[in-house]
Amino acid sequence: MNRRVALIGGMEMMFLWLLMTLGVAIPLASNKTTEDYGIPPEQVANYVHAIIEADRTIYTSHVVNRLQDQGIVKADEHWEQHNALLLPAQFLQLAGRLVAEKNNGIRYRLISLWPIYRRNSPATELERKGLEAVADNPERPFTSMVTSGEKQFFQAIYADKAVTKACIDCHNNHPLSPKRDFTLNSTMGGIVITIPLAS
Ligand code: HEC
Repeated sequence: MNRRVALIGGMEMMFLWLLMTLGVAIPLASNKTTEDYGIPPEQVANYVHAIIEADRTIYTSHVVNRLQDQGIVKADEHWEQHNALLLPAQFLQLAGRLVAEKNNGIRYRLISLWPIYRRNSPATELERKGLEAVADNPERPFTSMVTSGEKQFFQAIYADKAVTKACIDCHNNHPLSPKRDFTLNSTMGGIVITIPLAS
């Protein structure tokens, strides 16, 4: 009997040790509330960027490319008139506008120093600087604090790179494109994400 108790004790110890080496958290009572865990704005922008990018990639590969390859329907800039699918860039811009309509302060846009449409140009000197910075150093987002009226915002600009030949073929040949020598993997523009900061 005693030997059995000792055996169970030993097994429990081993189980605890296993949990600890696997890094499994053992829940302990905590007085912290969710408000004690502020998330740095850089991190929030990274989260938002990851979602925008994932949605655009899935839309491009699983909707646009798939339906085009099967000859069902094409993507076309003038999708409304031509009964076509919207381009991934338009998908991103339209979703960004819908988010802005929520009026909760978060915004995002796809912009460029060489935009097909002038409305996709940098809106401020800081955005221009950010686009130049990510063109030079695409791996690092350009971040800054901006003030609008009484409110403070955090802004991050992420490089938008020519990941496929389709990107450069379309932009280099578009009648309104001011730049016709984009190369594969070059930075074509940037995704600007603006997040309101609690005052
Ligand atoms: C079939 C043509 C086409 C393809 C392919 C395409 N784009 Fe575009 N792109 C456009 C058009 C048209 C716009 C403008 C959309 C608008 O604002 O209405 C645009 C907008 C942009 C903008 C915003 C600045 C601007 O030029 O107005 C960036 C940055 C951009 N695209 C990058 C890319 C990248 C990166 C890829 C590849 C992953 C890509 N594009 C693929 C046609 C294309």
